[in-house]
Amino acid sequence: MPKISFVKGRPAVEVEEGANLMKALLKNQVPVASSCKGQLICGKCVLTIADGGHNLSAITPDERDLMEIKDVPSGHRCACNASVEGDITVDAPYW
Ligand code: FES
Repeated sequence: MPKISFVKGRPAVEVEEGANLMKALLKNQVPVASSCKGQLICGKCVLTIADGGHNLSAITPDERDLMEIKDVPSGHRCACNASVEGDITVDAPYW
């Protein structure tokens, strides 16, 4: 099972392969900011992918458009639009 590790302090969590990143974090009591409930509109769920970005599903054209609109730098992903295929390390400013 893929492992999600955190840059700051939190213990790592194991998730089902292919799990939606935002749902997997919420299921493990890790908060993820959102005001659109995962509809790829608000951009608040953006996380820093510190390691293992290749273990996430590919960025879709809609996610790329949203990240351009929100001026999100590379190395970040919308958690609501990413599936976890392998081990990753993530961070958020509010953790
Ligand atoms: S939760 Fe709103 S864009 Fe991901």
